[in-house]
Amino acid sequence: MNETTVNLLDKLENSHSLTLDEYRELVGGYSVEIAEYAAEKAVGIRKKIYGNAVFIRGLIEISNICRNDCLYCGIRRSNANCDRYRLTPEQILNCCREGYSLGFRTFVLQGGEDSYFSAKTVCEIVKDIKNIYSDCAVTLSLGEYSKEDYSAMFSAGADRYLLRHETADKEHYNKLHPEKMSFDNRMRCLYDLKEIGFQTGCGFMVGSPYQTTDTLAKDLKFIETFSPEMCGIGPFISHKDTPFYDKQSGTVEMTCYLLSIIRIMHPNILLPSTTALGTVSPNGRELGIKAGANVLMPNLSPRNVRKKYMLYDNKICTGDESAQCRKCLDIRMKSIGYEVVVDRGDFKKNKISTGEVDSDL
Ligand code: 5AD
Ligand code: FES
Repeated sequence: MNETTVNLLDKLENSHSLTLDEYRELVGGYSVEIAEYAAEKAVGIRKKIYGNAVFIRGLIEISNICRNDCLYCGIRRSNANCDRYRLTPEQILNCCREGYSLGFRTFVLQGGEDSYFSAKTVCEIVKDIKNIYSDCAVTLSLGEYSKEDYSAMFSAGADRYLLRHETADKEHYNKLHPEKMSFDNRMRCLYDLKEIGFQTGCGFMVGSPYQTTDTLAKDLKFIETFSPEMCGIGPFISHKDTPFYDKQSGTVEMTCYLLSIIRIMHPNILLPSTTALGTVSPNGRELGIKAGANVLMPNLSPRNVRKKYMLYDNKICTGDESAQCRKCLDIRMKSIGYEVVVDRGDFKKNKISTGEVDSDL
């Protein structure tokens, strides 16, 4: 094993911080053996905090209508082959009802940037869900809004917000997105979400077109300093009706290596083993968990719309076989020594005694 890379992983474990150059070296130092070493560390760290629990989130894909035109995404507005749909608030609540009975205690509402879902509409839906399922967490993943809008959603009861930064390199960002979209606004959104008090998630695709060791190092440095409560990473997978139809997909190996690095960097982070990872390899999600991930986000969307939320080709859990994702995941996780738990699965803050004085003094 390359000694420099081993030393960098040890340093990351001890100080939870590396320089940009060191991250570059760490990413470039990938080998099968190094990845195993990183995974071993990552699993040990996660075990101390979360035991062998795996948290599940019921993912409800509320709309595939999107005003944006991200070059990698199958539901981009210029894809005329995409059969568009939008769930009604009633349909969304029905998904929650089914999910609750299956043991989900977090609902993730994800969708394209669909103008129908104004902050006001989102707030009404969040309030309805929280009224009925007061023991559940609601996560939103609906793209970019103003700070006022995010604040309103937080006041309505939303607990968490996922907004992948996609890449921490501005030039790279501009190669993945149309001119109308802005890196700066994406970052503004993330900092607003954090400031408002959401448990906030960022993330990126592994192996996205034009990604380099350098841009990955920037992603890691950004994740270190932003210190999100959640981080979603999964391989890029091409979609046939996008400009990136012929680009290569990201690999399971690099995704797992990066999952381990992120776990070592932020021991408490909520780290999903993504559907995209399960799509590039039949046991991808198991490998993600074995690399340090601790969250799964199975699909709770109505069966008849699942094939329409195709961000990339060949997405799993969109056919008849997926009726029982919850059971399927229970079995899959048991087979590798983990347990899917019925729990909100909140971010665990370190309990540090601060010796704080009374706040009214
Ligand atoms: N491959 C993998 N992930 C994708 N996403 C969008 N398109 C693709 C694709 N072709 C990811 C983006 C987005 C999240 C919802 O899905 O990172 O933020
Ligand atoms: Fe969906 Fe296995 S998790 S079918």
